[in-house]
Amino acid sequence: MESWEDLKKECAGCRSCPLCEGRHNLVFGVGNESADLMLIGEGPGEQEDLQGLPFVGPAGKLLDSMLEMIDLDRSKVYIANMVKCRPPHNRDPQGTEMAACRSWLERQIALVNPKLIVCLGRISATALIREDFRITREHGIWFDIGDRRILATFHPSALLRDPSKRPEAFMDLREIRKEYRALHSADKI
Ligand code: URA
Repeated sequence: MESWEDLKKECAGCRSCPLCEGRHNLVFGVGNESADLMLIGEGPGEQEDLQGLPFVGPAGKLLDSMLEMIDLDRSKVYIANMVKCRPPHNRDPQGTEMAACRSWLERQIALVNPKLIVCLGRISATALIREDFRITREHGIWFDIGDRRILATFHPSALLRDPSKRPEAFMDLREIRKEYRALHSADKI
């Protein structure tokens, strides 16, 4: 098993796609490196690029509140993105960029070894669950993939843009809490 230190060092020098040209900082990921729950977003925005940390802008503030609603916080989960460098003007990361960045994420997932993965938004859901994943129809449902359970919910930025989605997102959060708790109560038996 490789070390986090080696992975971070190798990733820091990545120039595998053109997104590296515009970055202030590469946004590797943050949180509990042996978390049972990993959250995967799209790519860094402006604040993330400036600070080198995922989800620290407005969407990140909402993500923090969402975690708090289900008795979690950043110390209990690991947070990463599909791409580690900011796409210009916050556009969606392209397929080629995600492909170039994919092995960093796969290696992070292997090291964290989470039982549960939550995709934040359509982009990571189409990459990690199914290419034709439909977030409006399939959010809140667990998919068993390998030995992990993966669920997608709305991206916090989408909830900021369209608050009418929040009640559905809240139901997804309850589902995540249920599964996370079940995992921990099973440990204690
Ligand atoms: N949106 C994402 O998908 N990731 C971040 O880190 C910030 C905003």
